[in-house]
Amino acid sequence: MSIYLDHASTTPLRREALEAMLPYLSEHWGNPSSIHRSGRRARQGLDEARETVATLIRAKPREIVFTSGGTESDNLALSGVAWAASARGRHIVTTAIEHKAVLQESALLGRHGFEVTYLPVNRDGLVDPEAVAAAITDRTILVSVMAANNEVGTIQPIAEIGSICRSRRVPFHVDAVQAAPFLPIDVNAWQVDLLSISGHKLYGPKGIGALFVRQGTSMVPLLQGGAQERQRRAGTENVAGAVGLAAAYTLAAEETTHAAETDRLIGLREALLQGLVATPGVARTGHATLRLPNSASMVIEGIEGGDLVAALDLEGIETSTGSACTTGSVEPSHVLLAMGIEAERARGSLRLTLGRENTAADVATTIEAVTRCVARLRAAVGKGEPAQAPAAMSGAPSV
Ligand SMILES: Cc1ncc(COP(=O)(O)O)c(C=O)c1O
Repeated sequence: MSIYLDHASTTPLRREALEAMLPYLSEHWGNPSSIHRSGRRARQGLDEARETVATLIRAKPREIVFTSGGTESDNLALSGVAWAASARGRHIVTTAIEHKAVLQESALLGRHGFEVTYLPVNRDGLVDPEAVAAAITDRTILVSVMAANNEVGTIQPIAEIGSICRSRRVPFHVDAVQAAPFLPIDVNAWQVDLLSISGHKLYGPKGIGALFVRQGTSMVPLLQGGAQERQRRAGTENVAGAVGLAAAYTLAAEETTHAAETDRLIGLREALLQGLVATPGVARTGHATLRLPNSASMVIEGIEGGDLVAALDLEGIETSTGSACTTGSVEPSHVLLAMGIEAERARGSLRLTLGRENTAADVATTIEAVTRCVARLRAAVGKGEPAQAPAAMSGAPSV
């Protein structure tokens, strides 16, 4: 039996979401743009899904654009707003630790004449709202800051940043792909204008996401064609995907509100971290408390993260070094480097992200297996345990 500890990469489709989707993959197969009965039935499913997602983040249904996932939502937010505002200004503010879906799109805009400011973070992975305020100029047309980081789980002061952007009249985009399964989202309290979510990170299907676009925000579409999604995203809609996303997000939000599952995950996360940092040369990364409940990340001296992930996989424990999108890359994580962790140490990164099905027994098995695999990998390269445990990577109190 395997233990899956890679929920930040993707989550299993939950039964309720699958069941909600099935009618739209069988009898309700119509095109939601068609006028006839089959079309209207599909339209009804899509409309209900839109209303559900809107209600969950305190938005209006007309402000929800269904996309193919978090990547497209991020791309659309950045390029859509940038090109719509390009006559007014060409400056974008983002951070050095964003997901590649934001960083690569920003780089592309950079090649098309936009100026991009990449804000630094501290050793916990936190962005300073004052730095956001200082970076905004009268040419700034967008600020994009993620709600929670996918590699180290650090949660940003989004409401504070939102208030700064609102007072400076700059549209604010938030990548909430990792945060949505765990944090209650209120686009008005956060004062955001655009917000990305993804189905497969919250026990919904892959290939579906949503972008909240506040009414009145100017945005050009990425995809040209039909008039779907109020002309903001052409193409026949993924009705079953939208229905599955709405069903999964509803259940995830209920769990977030009731706190019991959040507390359970925090308990498991802390047990994992405490068990693992007991090994010399293991230091947690990210903020001690301002972090996603399910996310445990660390750097381990004397090993390559990829080797450890492969060794654990042979033991039936599925983990990652960081982002799935950078798996296979030999480069150390841009997130860890931005947090001031030296490249050599960043190579020994391990990310364990818990989920609904994980238990205390999984945690105990994982601590034992990681400890054993680390010792074996260190012995193989002739590096025993470091003489002394290094200081925690986080500036906050370490466990
Ligand atoms: C923070 C963040 N943004 C965006 C994405 C991209 O989402 P998707 O896989 O739905 O394209 C991910 C996925 O890893 C993510 O973690």
